Amino acid sequence: MSIQQIQQKMEMLKLNHTLPLLSDLLQEATKQKSSPLDFFEKVLTLEAEAREESRIATSLKVSGLPKGMHLDNFDFLFQPSVEKAKIEHLVTCDFIRHHENVLFFGPPGVGKTHLAAALGVKAIEMGYSVSYYTVEELLLQLKRRSEIPVAKQRGRAYVKNALVVVDELGYQVLDRNETHLFFQFISARYMRASTVITSNRSVKQWVHIFASDEMATTAILDRLFHKAHIFNIDGQSYRLKDFNKMIQESQKEKS
Ligand SMILES: Nc1ncnc2c1ncn2[C@@H]1O[C@H](COP(=O)(O)OP(=O)(O)O)[C@@H](O)[C@H]1O
Ligand SMILES: [Mg+2]
Repeated sequence: MSIQQIQQKMEMLKLNHTLPLLSDLLQEATKQKSSPLDFFEKVLTLEAEAREESRIATSLKVSGLPKGMHLDNFDFLFQPSVEKAKIEHLVTCDFIRHHENVLFFGPPGVGKTHLAAALGVKAIEMGYSVSYYTVEELLLQLKRRSEIPVAKQRGRAYVKNALVVVDELGYQVLDRNETHLFFQFISARYMRASTVITSNRSVKQWVHIFASDEMATTAILDRLFHKAHIFNIDGQSYRLKDFNKMIQESQKEKS
């Protein structure tokens, strides 16, 4: 059999990463006197690794997760109120297997989005389906299909994905209709899949986010908190850290 015939078969099998490398790999195997078993293993490993890499890249793109927010570039020393051990437990993704939620509370700039996104990235790496929305983006999607109950929209990412990150709850006050849609969204995911939420407002203030509707707020909180990992981050804004340092230094100079 010629190398071209093998390449044709590789094309049929969509071994797209190793196909252009075949001649080089064969040459190397001959030089190193590799056994057929070793050669075959090498080709399959290279192909599998490349596929996994491309799966992760595509899933990250489709998820809408913000770029560059990973666990290894989160400075835990800067934000001591974030319990590192608790985050390290979450990145095992056990919470996704158990359909549990994660809630990040805290003022702007303390790393809520960063940590929520980092969990999303880990989940994708472990093979889970993930989507990220700001509250505004999510409401836009929910309103577009508001004639169908959210729980019935089984094909939609915000219903079916193993993990949905909803960022920035609290910046925007929801009206009654939006509150109802948000409740439906939380209900559709309750006990079926995990949701991560970030909020700049404490739970006590949530009623003001949800159209001052105490019933709806309690119903939302009930479902979210039923199985939840909660983080209250109360540190400095990372965005303002250099700014604050500058001010402190200029004050020192003056005194
Ligand atoms: N502890 C941290 N270590 C590294 N970068 C951080 C940390 N906290 C925040 N950041 C960065 O600072 C910016 C603001 O953080 P972000 O997560 O968006 O804050 P929040 O969502 O709480 O308003 C982002 O660029 C984020 O990557
Ligand atoms: Mg944020």
